[in-house]
Amino acid sequence: MGYPMVRMRRLREKEGIRRMIRETHLTLDDLVYPLFVAPGERVRKEIPSMPRNHHISVDLISEEAKTLYDLGIPAVILFGLPETKDPFGSEAWHEDGIVQRAVRAIKKAVSDLVVITDVCLCQYTSTGHCGLVDSSGTRIENDPSCGLLAEVALSHALAGADIVAPSDMMDGRVQAIRRKLDDAGFPHVLILSYAAKYASSFYGPFREAADSAPQFGDRRSYQMDPANSDQALREVELDLDEGADIVMVKPALAYGDVIRRVKDRFRVPVAAYNVSGEYAMIEAAAERGWIDRRSTVLEVLTSLKRAGADIIITYYARDVARWLRDG
Ligand code: PBG
Repeated sequence: MGYPMVRMRRLREKEGIRRMIRETHLTLDDLVYPLFVAPGERVRKEIPSMPRNHHISVDLISEEAKTLYDLGIPAVILFGLPETKDPFGSEAWHEDGIVQRAVRAIKKAVSDLVVITDVCLCQYTSTGHCGLVDSSGTRIENDPSCGLLAEVALSHALAGADIVAPSDMMDGRVQAIRRKLDDAGFPHVLILSYAAKYASSFYGPFREAADSAPQFGDRRSYQMDPANSDQALREVELDLDEGADIVMVKPALAYGDVIRRVKDRFRVPVAAYNVSGEYAMIEAAAERGWIDRRSTVLEVLTSLKRAGADIIITYYARDVARWLRDG
């Protein structure tokens, strides 16, 4: 070691200097809060596996949206719990479906809040799968599913959604959706594709919250193998070619390397979904006093930004907004 000796610790000793050289800044501008729209009236019921997150009925949804907007949260993503399920998931693209009504209510009350809608069939199909199941009852049919997903996306655009977010992982659905939206006069509606969505164990609490667990088999024939990341780059490339504006990696925490590779390779807006199981793990440990909730959450979300995410979908968005507001 020659003279002068490089001392890295000089950079860390004073808070003021730490602030000046900080590389990653988490702000509310990056966060999207998920909302679960449920049937009924005057419903605001906490989801047991996801403390402080609620099932909310359409009549209360604009109030909720207004609160979030006033807290400084720029965007929400909507998930619907339909009144009825059938093999085709018909309520998913119904003009008066639960999500369509919720979008209209939110847009009427807080037009500047960015409304993203999850586009999928799994909450709406009796099979619980994200696409249509063929007559043998075993395979998911790709191309017919894309047609339906495009209908779902169009119905959301008609209701006023700013961004549609297909989460099904069928091949070609981004192109089908882009064409449908353009032909119907919605070229300005963006597509946020769940491009690299893994077949993950971290979705457990969500499937309970959204009542969307597959009734047979699993999702491994359409969602990605957690062991692969070259394949994620190919998935992202195809979605971008088909017209995706923003691409998502999901889950987030165990996939920081994938987020980074996607960001470095494509230099497009990248979203990361800090999913329900990631939320539940922190909640459970914090409840037992094993970790400190606030500092752990901020560390995790900052790590996703550091990995390269521009946008983070997180059930903690509301907590972060309060922490930033109240100091
Ligand atoms: C539906 C969908 C899922 C999630 C978002 N959209 C579940 C799944 O693919 O089984 C998971 C979100 C979460 O766990 O927070 N396709």
